[in-house]
Amino acid sequence: MVIGVTTCDEAAVGSRDDAMPLEATTYVGRRAEIAEVRRLLGATSTVTLTGPGGVGKSRLARRAVCAVRGMFPDGVVVVKLAELREPALLVSTVAARLGLGDRAAIPMDVIVDHLHQRRMLLLLDNCEHLVDACAGLVDTLVSACPGLVVLATSRQSLGVTGERIMPVPPLEVPQPGGAPADLERYDAVRLLLDRATAVVPSFAITEQNAADVITLCRKLEGLPLAIELAAVRMRVLSVRQLIDRLDKRFAVLTGGNRGGPSRHETMRSLVDWSHELCTEPERLLWARASVFSGGFDLDAAERVCSGDGLDSRHVLDVIDALIDKSILVREEYQGLARYRMLETIRLYGEERLRAADDEQRMRRRHRDWCVELTGRFEAEWIGPDQARWVDMLIREHPNLRRALDFCASDPDEAAVGLSKVLTFKEYWIIRGLTEGRIWLDRLLDVAADDAPGRAHALWSNAFLALVQGDIDAYETHLSDAERVAERTGDEKAVAYVHHVRAYHALIGNDMPNAVELFGKSVAMFRAQGDEAGELWSTYNYGLAISLSGELDRGRRVLRDCIERLTSRGEVFWRSWALWSLAAAEYLRGDVDEAAKAGFEVLRLQRRVHDRVILAFAVTVLAGCAAHNEQPRRAARLLGVAATAWRSFGASPRNYAAFVEPVVSDTELVAGRLGFDQAANEFALGAAMPAEEAMAYVLADGEPAEETAPKNAQGTLTRRENQIAELVAEGLTNKQIAEKLGIARRTAESHVDHILTKLSFTNRAQIAAWVASRRN
Ligand SMILES: Nc1ncnc2c1ncn2[C@@H]1O[C@H](COP(=O)(O)OP(=O)(O)OP(=O)(O)O)[C@@H](O)[C@H]1O
Ligand SMILES: [Mg+2]
Repeated sequence: MVIGVTTCDEAAVGSRDDAMPLEATTYVGRRAEIAEVRRLLGATSTVTLTGPGGVGKSRLARRAVCAVRGMFPDGVVVVKLAELREPALLVSTVAARLGLGDRAAIPMDVIVDHLHQRRMLLLLDNCEHLVDACAGLVDTLVSACPGLVVLATSRQSLGVTGERIMPVPPLEVPQPGGAPADLERYDAVRLLLDRATAVVPSFAITEQNAADVITLCRKLEGLPLAIELAAVRMRVLSVRQLIDRLDKRFAVLTGGNRGGPSRHETMRSLVDWSHELCTEPERLLWARASVFSGGFDLDAAERVCSGDGLDSRHVLDVIDALIDKSILVREEYQGLARYRMLETIRLYGEERLRAADDEQRMRRRHRDWCVELTGRFEAEWIGPDQARWVDMLIREHPNLRRALDFCASDPDEAAVGLSKVLTFKEYWIIRGLTEGRIWLDRLLDVAADDAPGRAHALWSNAFLALVQGDIDAYETHLSDAERVAERTGDEKAVAYVHHVRAYHALIGNDMPNAVELFGKSVAMFRAQGDEAGELWSTYNYGLAISLSGELDRGRRVLRDCIERLTSRGEVFWRSWALWSLAAAEYLRGDVDEAAKAGFEVLRLQRRVHDRVILAFAVTVLAGCAAHNEQPRRAARLLGVAATAWRSFGASPRNYAAFVEPVVSDTELVAGRLGFDQAANEFALGAAMPAEEAMAYVLADGEPAEETAPKNAQGTLTRRENQIAELVAEGLTNKQIAEKLGIARRTAESHVDHILTKLSFTNRAQIAAWVASRRN
C-alpha cells in the first residue's frame, strides 16, 4: 500500500543552522488540520496548537509551515524550545535563530527593528514550560510587527490577546465493523501500518486482522506516539495479542471503569509499558540520558551514563535497542549520529531518574562532561581546530546551558561553574554576549565571595557589557574584578583587567591610555605564558599604536601578530588582527593596503561565521572605495554595512575613532554621486540579503573575468563600448567627457550603464574585461 508520503522537507523548514533537524519518519494525513491551520494563519496573528504530549502538535506545526510558506515572502523561522529551560534566554534564542546578533544590551529592540516591516512566520515549538515568557515575547512582537504571524505549539495556551487556539485532535480512527479496503482512509490506521511494516515488513491488513486493527487503533485513541510505541511490539506480538495486553493494562488503570482511560492515561500507560519491556540497562540509559538537552552522541552517552549497572562497552548496544523501541530517535548532524528523545519520553525518563534519587549525581556527571569539553576548547582554541571547536559548542549549546543551570543551583557548584565552565569566553563573544552575561550574573550571585574563578568571571562580564555599550555594568564589574584580583594576588586576572580597560580606552579613542594599558597586559600575559591572552591583547596594542600616530611601529606589531596567528592555524583572532591592520591603514595610512586586509578578513570570517566582523570590515572597505574613485560602490557598501551593524544592534558610532571618518566618507560619496543617487545606492546595499551582500563585497576582490563573460561585448551599445575602452585607458569621467565632447554627467551615466550591464562594481573590472577581450 502507498502511505501518504509527503514531499515537504520538514527538516529544511527555516533551519539553516538548526542544530537538530526533525527525524525523517513518514508523515501521514492530517489534511483537514493542515488546511485549518493554514486558514487560521491567514486570519490572525497568533495561532497556538494545543493538546496532550504525543498527540502530534510539533509535527503538525512543521507540516503546516511547509504548506503556508508561500504566504510569507520574508520566510519562516523555527525556534525549538523543548530544550530551553531559562525564560531569560528566550529573547536571545529567538534573536539568534533570526540571524541577529546581540551587541545591544536589549536584543528585543533588535528583533522588533528587524521584523517590523517583514511578512514572516515564527514557529515557537514546545512552549509549555515557558508559557509566561513566550506570552510576553509574542505580545510585544505581534503588536509591534504587523506582518508577523506566530504559530506556537504548547500543552497549554499562551493566553495572549488575539490568540486563536486550535486543539490538535488525535488521528482519525475507523468505526467498528469497517471494511478492510476502507481502513487505509484513516490516518491512525495508516500510521500503524507504516510503523508496523518498519518492524515486520510483511505486515498487511487482511480480512482476518481488519477488525483487530480497528480495535487497536480505537484503543490507542489515534494518539500518534501511542501508536508508534505499540507498533514496535508487533515484532513479537500479533495485533490480537497486543489488544489483550492493552486491555489488561487499561483495566488496572481504570479500576474497571466503563469510561476507559483518558488520553493522557492512555499515553502514559503506553510509555509505562515500553518501560517495563526494557531491560535494566535500557531503563538506566533512558533515565540517565534524560539529563541531556538537545541530544547527545555515543561518546557523551558512554561518559555520562555508564557505570553502576550499565557497562560502557554495552552503551552502543543499549542505544541500538532503545532506537528499536522508539524511545530514542536517531539524527545526523554534520556527519555525526546523535540521539534524542521526544519531550514526552524524556520527561518520563527524568521522572524515573528522580524516583531513583539519582538526578543530582547524573546532572553533576553531565556537568563534568561539559567541563571536560570546554576545558579542551580552551586548550585547543589557538590552533587549527578552532572552527571545529566552535561548531562543536554550537552543537552542544543546549547541553552547556543545562550544565550552567546545574552550576547555578548551589554555591559550591557555582564555584565550579565560574572557574571551569566559563573557560570558553570566546564562544560567548561569537555566539551570545547577552547569554554570557546572564550566566555570569547568575553564577556570580550564587558563588561564595571567595570562589576561585570570581575575578575572571568579573572581567569577562565587564568585557561583554562593554561590547554591548553597557558602560555602568562595565565599570562596576571591572572595578570589582580589579579588587578581587588584587586581594587574591591573581596576576592573570590583573592582566585581563588591564586588557579590558585598554579596550575601553581604544574604542573611546583615548589612544595614549590604550597604548599604555595594552603594553602592560601584553607584557604580563607574556610573563605568565598565557598565549591566548597575549595574542588577543597584541593586535589591539598594534591598532592602538597605529592610531596614536606611530603607524610604522603599529604595522610591525600587527603584522608580527598576524604571522604568529597564521602559523598557529588560528582563524578568529587572525581575522580581527587583519581587521585591525585594515582599520589602521584606512584611518592613518594607505587605502589599497586597507582594502587588501579587509578582503582577507571577509574570506577568513566565512570559516568561523563571525558576522560581527563583517560589519567592521565592510565599513572599512566602504571608506576605501570612497577614497578610490568608486563612489557608487562606496555608497552601496555603506548601505551593506549599515544593515550589518543594525542586525547586531550596534553602530560604528560606538567606536569613536570611526565617527568622523565615516561621516566624511559619506559626505564625499554624496558629493561625488549627488545626494539622490548616493541615497539610492545606499538603499540598494542596505536591502541586499546577507549572502548577496557578501558576494557583492567580495566581487571587487576577485578577478574581473570571473564575474562577466567575454562575449558580454554585444550587450553594450557602440558608445558604451567606446567608453569602456577609454575607462580601460585609465581616463576619468571628466577626461572622457572632454575627449568625446559630451557632458560629464552623460559620461558618468554611460559608465554606470556599463557597470550594470556587466554586473561589475568598479572601473578596474571594466579595464580587466576590456583587456581580456583583446586577448
Ligand atoms: N501525522 C503524523 N504522521 C506520522 N507521525 C506522526 C504524526 N503526528 C505525530 N507523529 C509522531 O508522533 C510522535 C509525537 O508527535 P509530536 O512530537 O509532534 O507530538 P507533540 O504533541 O508535539 O508532543 P509533545 O507535547 O511531547 O511535544 C512523533 O514521533 C511524531 O513523529
Ligand atoms: Mg512537541
